[in-house]
Amino acid sequence: ITSRGSVIMEPSGFHFAFKNQPSFRAGLVVSAVKRSRTDTTWHPVYGTPGGVRNHYNEAVFTLRETGRPHRSIEVIARAYDDGIAFRYAFPRDGWSDSLLITGEETEFAFAANDSAWWIPANEFAYESLYRHTPLGDIQDANTPITIEKRNGVCLSIHEAALRDYSEMTLRKKKGAARTFVSSLWPEPDGVCARVALPFATPWRYVAIAAAPGGLVESQLLQNLNEPCRIADVSWIRPIKFIGIWWGMHTGRYTWYEGPNHGATTERMKEYIDFAAAHNIGGVLAEGWNTGWETWASGVTPIQDFTKAYPDFEIEEVVRYAKKNGVEFISHHETGGNIPEYERQMDSAFTLCRKLGIHYLKTGYAGSILPDGYHHHGQFMVRHFQKVVETAARFQIALDVHESIKPTGLDRTWPNLMSQEAARGNEWNGTYKATPPYHATILPFTRLLAGPYDYTPGIFAVNHSPAKSKRLYCTTTYQLATLVVLYSPMLMAADVIENYRGRPAFAFVEDLPAAWDETRVIDAQLGDYVSLARRQKDQWFVGSVTDEECRRITLPLTFLNKETQYVATIYGDSITTDWEKNPEAVEIGRYTVTSRDTIVAALSKAGGQTIVLTPAAAKVGGRTNIPDAAAQATTDGLPPIRTYNGMANAKMAAFTARKTYGSARTVHSAVGKPVSLKYPFGERYPASGANALTDGSRGTHNLSSGEWQGFEGVDVVATIDLKESMPVKKISIGFLNSPNDWIFYPRTVVFSVSDDGKTFSNVGEERYAFSKTDSTENLIEIRDFSSAFAPVTARYVRVSAESISLCPPWHYGRGKKAWVFTDEVVVE
Ligand code: NOJ
Ligand code: CA
Repeated sequence: ITSRGSVIMEPSGFHFAFKNQPSFRAGLVVSAVKRSRTDTTWHPVYGTPGGVRNHYNEAVFTLRETGRPHRSIEVIARAYDDGIAFRYAFPRDGWSDSLLITGEETEFAFAANDSAWWIPANEFAYESLYRHTPLGDIQDANTPITIEKRNGVCLSIHEAALRDYSEMTLRKKKGAARTFVSSLWPEPDGVCARVALPFATPWRYVAIAAAPGGLVESQLLQNLNEPCRIADVSWIRPIKFIGIWWGMHTGRYTWYEGPNHGATTERMKEYIDFAAAHNIGGVLAEGWNTGWETWASGVTPIQDFTKAYPDFEIEEVVRYAKKNGVEFISHHETGGNIPEYERQMDSAFTLCRKLGIHYLKTGYAGSILPDGYHHHGQFMVRHFQKVVETAARFQIALDVHESIKPTGLDRTWPNLMSQEAARGNEWNGTYKATPPYHATILPFTRLLAGPYDYTPGIFAVNHSPAKSKRLYCTTTYQLATLVVLYSPMLMAADVIENYRGRPAFAFVEDLPAAWDETRVIDAQLGDYVSLARRQKDQWFVGSVTDEECRRITLPLTFLNKETQYVATIYGDSITTDWEKNPEAVEIGRYTVTSRDTIVAALSKAGGQTIVLTPAAAKVGGRTNIPDAAAQATTDGLPPIRTYNGMANAKMAAFTARKTYGSARTVHSAVGKPVSLKYPFGERYPASGANALTDGSRGTHNLSSGEWQGFEGVDVVATIDLKESMPVKKISIGFLNSPNDWIFYPRTVVFSVSDDGKTFSNVGEERYAFSKTDSTENLIEIRDFSSAFAPVTARYVRVSAESISLCPPWHYGRGKKAWVFTDEVVVE
């Protein structure tokens, strides 16, 4: 593949392995080539009313075995202006009726060791933080994976139309520097895909853009999917919703019945009233149905999706919602119990039809049953598809959590409205903090695969001070994620108590759930992103930054030239500070035209949103476009330079404030080699061999890639300081997150040596476990240390005794426990 004069991908091969057929040996020849050209425009069911142009050249290469049994395979290749795609098709000829595929190795031979944004392959819900490394440093990765070349060109590698096959991940080819091969998940019998012939695999594609924004604006993935299969689509409508949800994640309510049960009829009615009064189309209730006691309690999760808890009168709730013009959004948490869900699906969907429920959130939080099936193997791909198609028959739109990654199937089944498949806000409630850079990467990685339910819009970012749990961002950042992270089933996720009386909620009220057009104004992955979305004549601009404050300029050239607009800006005030004053939102209204530029000063971990509404007043006496979404008046409003004039003072104030994140440490062991008695687990290598002395300490994000994980073994690390030096204190950090099977060590012994052979003990520290460690979803970091009278030593050793197996009170009892450690600090 070459693009704009540079080589993107070197010649790359492919290989298939079968259980019921021999592999292809050498000797495939091109026996036929069929070329065609397509240029059509299609119209999505919602959004993009101008239509999507599908324009490509295609070649179908028939490859035939020269020897017996003369099987053939087709490679269908397409070239678009914004990328390339190919898939394999197995015709019937020469094959049996069905194929048992045990491996597909499609090569991606990258031309350069460019920088990549990725998450590891084996991620059951794709909820890792994105990593940023040279391609060559990746062992395995999920797709979409995003690559930035030195000349600014960006690539996104992903698959389209994943049906009746296993998910594809990428694995570094043995011995290669930067060639990857596709990898499929085997089912328990070793078969990755059992398919009836003729069969075509999902598309493998490389989207190519001159800048990151081009990847966002590309429609290549949608174009590679088939047209809509649902005849009557009148019921499929984007929706903005609130729900009884965050209250459970922050521990205020329970999903199950009891004194703090969240989903009660009474609370639901309050939510419905609030929705009706604030232009919110739907209300979700999680925990309305019986069986939540079984979820995540260690027993097989079995919920009854046809039976409501007695304090949730579902018929009354739906009636009340409808009376108020609000949709009830139902919820099914399968817990991963697939046979049980498939058994109940018909009756559960029949209940929806009976009550007139058209929206459903589903979830798969738990390990998949039957045992041995991977979350993203063919078995689950088939299951997700079955749910989508059954839901379509029952006129139900879906928001699927812990789903398979999206691959554009929402073009074919537009009732598949949104999916999770990435780390969402819930991590900031139940688990641990997510660093602010996360949302600056998502639009260019996970979102390229399709709509994403991040559950954005938390206003009270400092939600549980008593438990030291909060979001590491500002309210303005959260507002901006409503625009930046697209979802046509769009949740404003906070509890309504936190929305009441907040002037900034006007932004949520005005926000549409789907868009006519999207433009990326400016972005730097991992640093900041600013994008503009249009519905009719109104534009909504969202900008978020990472832990750094930023002055960004937003030229309004996308606005209609003839029109005067009112810009309503929700941004950081000079006092906004993620740490001490995160909820301050400054709201102002100004007049603008397409010739203006808005200068935004984003606080550290901050954000900004703008609503641009055509004004009733006209520029140069011309009339406004008739289908304006809304009209505003400019009377008495200041010009935008008033706002822009505040940017410098704000930046000075923001710069002086604390930055979120791990502080770099300086100590004697930084950069010194580490030798480990037992190896770290391959899944948690951190920065590799010398991670414990790389000068940076992990944060509360266990997936941040900074913690080194050891499974079932002790951590015995010896550091060679390279010369004898005085040492007076040694410490080492450990992470405790029983919910993730990660425990503090029992004992940590510190010792020093001059010759690297005889070590003398300079102190130890113990940790006493108690059952309460498991009852909270806690995550904590603790330094185990020893300070002593200075000694001269060249070698330092830390021996941490792991509890090895999960304790009896833990739901993983008897299985291997992890130790997560980082940074041996030597003073
Ligand atoms: C995980 C989902 O992502 C979350 O939104 C939901 O509340 C819980 N599972 C419970 O179903
Ligand atoms: Ca480190």
